[in-house]
Amino acid sequence: MNNIDKLKQKKAEALLGGGEKRIASQHKKGKLTARERIDLLLDKETFEEIGMLVTHRSTDFGMEKQKFYGDGVVTGYGKINDRLVYVYSQDFTVFGGSLSETHAKKICKIMDLAMENGAPIIGLNDSGGARIQEGVVSLGGYADIFYKNTRASGVIPQISAIMGPCAGGAVYSPAITDFIMMVEQSSYMFVTGPNVVKTVTHEEVTSEDLGGAEAHASKSGVTHFTAKHEADCIKQLKKLMSYIPQNCEDKAPIYEYELGNEQRAKLNHLIPENPNQPYDMKEVIEEVVDEDSFFEVHKQYAENIVVGFARIAGRSIGVVANQPASLAGVLDINSSKKAARFVRFCDAFNIPLLVLVDVPGFLPGTDQEWNGIISNGAKLLYALSEATVPKVTVITRKAYGGAYDVMNSKHIGADLNFAFPNAEIAVMGAKGASEIIFRKEIAASDNPEKKLAEKEAEYKEKFANPYRAAAHGYIDEVVVPTDIRLKLIKGFKMLENKVCNLPRKKHGNIPL
Ligand code: HXC
Repeated sequence: MNNIDKLKQKKAEALLGGGEKRIASQHKKGKLTARERIDLLLDKETFEEIGMLVTHRSTDFGMEKQKFYGDGVVTGYGKINDRLVYVYSQDFTVFGGSLSETHAKKICKIMDLAMENGAPIIGLNDSGGARIQEGVVSLGGYADIFYKNTRASGVIPQISAIMGPCAGGAVYSPAITDFIMMVEQSSYMFVTGPNVVKTVTHEEVTSEDLGGAEAHASKSGVTHFTAKHEADCIKQLKKLMSYIPQNCEDKAPIYEYELGNEQRAKLNHLIPENPNQPYDMKEVIEEVVDEDSFFEVHKQYAENIVVGFARIAGRSIGVVANQPASLAGVLDINSSKKAARFVRFCDAFNIPLLVLVDVPGFLPGTDQEWNGIISNGAKLLYALSEATVPKVTVITRKAYGGAYDVMNSKHIGADLNFAFPNAEIAVMGAKGASEIIFRKEIAASDNPEKKLAEKEAEYKEKFANPYRAAAHGYIDEVVVPTDIRLKLIKGFKMLENKVCNLPRKKHGNIPL
């Protein structure tokens, strides 16, 4: 066999990973192979592999007799919609995609390239965890990845798809990355699996219930997205990429947009007159942003706040919006954490923020106080205060108490603050306020109920409107809802070259 044939043979062998039998077994589980996933993800014929012929160095437990080219991970670079990305895709057909010293080195190598060349990295995870035959060397490999994930955080976007098992400390690399996407029914993430759980806590739980896509989407909030199947996961990964820039010094791609009739008549009727009647803020978002451009993040978690990417006149924005249709749009621990994390991503990657406000305040109760609504609510306050990207606020209805301040008020650095004419901006609702400040007067009255109603009406007249705030310049303009989209198009365009620098520091200390 000549040298070229030898090379061809090696490459053909590498393409088969752990062999045809294991590939068939992977397919039987409804899963694609590492290479099939890359083919789906990247633009046709753009993938260039790095380290195809790497093998492990282990000699324990007869490992020297079991070597597979690639050592359980396919790594390299290619393009998505003509933009450079780096990819690693774990190959479950080789030792269950488990992570050896050399497997880790391959991942680290492309992480370094991604950092040095300022392009995102996408990890397709499908792994039995640490390569058991290698012991501590494998743990070291994981830690090398965690360290690089942390160094890369805020420099390049890092995205993790979970397409199979992801257990033990292995979960911490995805957790440090910016976004996690899990495939329903075929992926799971947990620090300790069902067997250990049973031994330690006597709880009986399946892998799916403990750490499947549904659990992490709705209960823990660990995953930002779920996908029905692998092809759906890859489709969503590509969509996500369309909103984000290559690195922290870049801007997100701009899509062509021609101004037309930007009036949105529906907006004048979407928000009920009765302040206690709920409505779906997602309908407001759909009206305000470019058609079909809203891509929701963390859809099933803390539904009382809505976050996601969208476009306004072709430009990427991040949307943060209270959701009156869930818990009246109140701010609580989970919604504050969810929104804060999203705001920090957008700020790190130059994506302007649109904050839609309809918030009655913070959720009261021992559960919230004892679990730290103070420090958790402060996360959102801190994140928005720290953000230097263009920040625009629209108060669609209520903005009460501390939540008014937190939700991107002028005072914490918003660039443009709009309110609809029915907005209520005050310390608290008229009834509660009247009960406190007119307590003596009401008690002394012949008809306390009537007196309270009178005082409530008086307070409402004075404060439950946007004009006090507008008089102070805290609201820049009270806008007819129909006109808001055009105001936002112009506003974000005006803010396009905003420069705002934080004071010199090593790093801030967000209340974690
Ligand atoms: C080496 C492994 C492996 C591992 C699986 N394999 N996990 N080899 N190290 N961690 C191998 C199997 O021997 C098998 O080889 C092939 O991969 C497929 O595994 P199966 O068990 O046949 O597949 P399946 O039934 O689908 O089960 C998948 C699995 C199970 C649930 C992942 O394999 C499993 O429980 N593996 C062990 C998981 C684990 O405990 N990992 C260590 C966690 S501790 P053949 O030759 O038959 O194809 C950890 C710490 C990380 O990860 C800490 C970081 C800080």
